[in-house]
Amino acid sequence: MIDKAQVQARAQNQYFEMKNVSKIFKTRNGPLTAVEGVDMKLSVGSTLGLVGESGSGKSTVARMLLRLLKPSGGQILYGGQDITEWKDRQLKSVRRSVQWVSQNPAAALFPNLSVGHNIMEPLRTHGIGTSREREERARELMRRVGIPQEGFYAFPHEFSGGQQQRIVIARALAVNPKYIVLDEAVSSLDVSVQAQILNLLQDLQEEMGMAYLFISHNLAVIRLVCEEVAVMFLGRVVERGKSQEVFSNPRHPYTKKLLAAVPSFTDEGVAPLNETNLLQGDPPSPLHIPSGCCFRTGCPYATEKCAQERPVLRRVGNQEAACHYAEDLPEAR
Ligand SMILES: Nc1ncnc2c1ncn2[C@@H]1O[C@H](COP(=O)(O)OP(=O)(O)OP(=O)(O)O)[C@@H](O)[C@H]1O
Ligand SMILES: [Mg+2]
Repeated sequence: MIDKAQVQARAQNQYFEMKNVSKIFKTRNGPLTAVEGVDMKLSVGSTLGLVGESGSGKSTVARMLLRLLKPSGGQILYGGQDITEWKDRQLKSVRRSVQWVSQNPAAALFPNLSVGHNIMEPLRTHGIGTSREREERARELMRRVGIPQEGFYAFPHEFSGGQQQRIVIARALAVNPKYIVLDEAVSSLDVSVQAQILNLLQDLQEEMGMAYLFISHNLAVIRLVCEEVAVMFLGRVVERGKSQEVFSNPRHPYTKKLLAAVPSFTDEGVAPLNETNLLQGDPPSPLHIPSGCCFRTGCPYATEKCAQERPVLRRVGNQEAACHYAEDLPEAR
């Protein structure tokens, strides 16, 4: 167990940061702007949430932040060092400190390796420990994530989805990472299993002090686990701040709509959604991003100014929002 002061000391110069980062993919249909002008920081010991609908650029941001993908513009810093241009060989030590847990545990595990060997695999790849030490470590991690020891020689398909995700988490922890990206890591699990995994992740973070970049469509989950959140729309961060502030008093019309689209529960069951608040139609294509504000074509408050001038992310109340009219919009919901 490490205490808060140790976690903070560890965090001091341990962070990933992106400055004004963009990513343009070359596609058959022309250049596709997946991410534009994003600033972000992920420090050891913290949890940052990334939320936004499908295709808004969340995974691309995560892959660039960890330099698994090279940005088209902007800078990536690791502990203050500019790693934007680093080659694979230089990035090896950086990558060892990063693990990725995604939506589909069955696909992430090697089907022909036993659970124990799956968990030991990253240790073997990085040449860590003797085979005996690796086994001890795998067994300890199984205990930690709640997989019975009898499962060591069993195969992944013999476990439920929730158990498989625990095995993936155990494997991610094997190399003692400082950063874990959880990309829709609980989305495919049923609600009670989601809660167990989220509790496990929180306990592990308290014990080990690593950082989580938590990507999800699910606002309730983000609200529960993330201190800070960035809301993405069409490759841009449109709102950012402490989760509590952003969710209790959203300042960008897109965040307001996202929140309004979450059904709430009352004594009579699920409350009907206010139709006028719902997100209408598909967002614009990243191949043809509108002029000015990227959200204006779906925004009920858009004016001519929104078509002319791109709003920048700026301080509004206790958070930041990229909307010309953030101060003047009606209260949420
Ligand atoms: N390698 C690639 N080549 C071309 N386009 C890509 C590539 N990777 C992502 N894109 C495009 O970039 C945009 C952002 O994709 P990304 O996967 O980051 O979104 P996302 O927010 O993670 O979505 P989801 O919630 O569905 O996972 C999408 O329009 C996607 O089609
Ligand atoms: Mg994604």
